[in-house]
Amino acid sequence: MKIEDSTNLLLAQRINKKQNLAGVLVIFGSPHSGGNCARLLDPVLAVFGAENCNIFSPFQAAPRFCDDCGWCKAHTECKHRDLDEFYAALEVCRVLVMVCPVYNAGFPAPVKAALDRLQRYYSARFFQNIRPPVKTVKLALTLFAAGQNGEKAAEYMNAALGKIYTVLNCRPASSVTASNTDKFGVSNEEVEKVRQECLKIKSVM
Ligand SMILES: Cc1cc2nc3c(=O)[nH]c(=O)nc-3n(C[C@H](O)[C@H](O)[C@H](O)COP(=O)(O)O)c2cc1C
Repeated sequence: MKIEDSTNLLLAQRINKKQNLAGVLVIFGSPHSGGNCARLLDPVLAVFGAENCNIFSPFQAAPRFCDDCGWCKAHTECKHRDLDEFYAALEVCRVLVMVCPVYNAGFPAPVKAALDRLQRYYSARFFQNIRPPVKTVKLALTLFAAGQNGEKAAEYMNAALGKIYTVLNCRPASSVTASNTDKFGVSNEEVEKVRQECLKIKSVM
């Protein structure tokens, strides 16, 4: 599925003439370093260069969940400090790649926890009126692996990400869903599709 492909890529091209590529942040939302998500990640690392990619693993980091404590409504930070490095990488990256499996038609729990913890940027925008709460414009690529048909779940997950990404100054560029991985794994065609989408994004960075 492509999301407003040409519009966002063209916009990024214009913006990027003024800004340098500061890197790619990957949210790697699988517990398996050699599983289906890892296979979807391979072309990302190949196209952008592994040395340009920061990888954040919610399964390893086990982020504390957002408890709506209200701190970020009055402070430009989260009260919980376990994600400080992630926030720093997120704020400067130019490309944000989310790669995760579908769990019960949604995000795996540690990924959802990390996404909820981005509420601090929503609060910065809507309670503290900071515009934009994240300065660096970014393009987003989302990659999902689903054991069965993942298209419906991917649609829902992309809709949820779309709302979060708005306050992150992050524009959806493209999304690829590898379906039926429990039977067939990730196909060569799906890997090639990811590679092509990465090349398109790289061409405007
Ligand atoms: C807890 C759990 C829930 C899952 N729920 C779904 C689901 O709702 N729909 C689906 O298509 N696959 C589901 N799957 C299958 C995974 O999405 C699939 O195996 C995926 O390829 C795993 O990626 P990985 O190899 O990177 O871990 C689920 C797997 C687990 C462990």
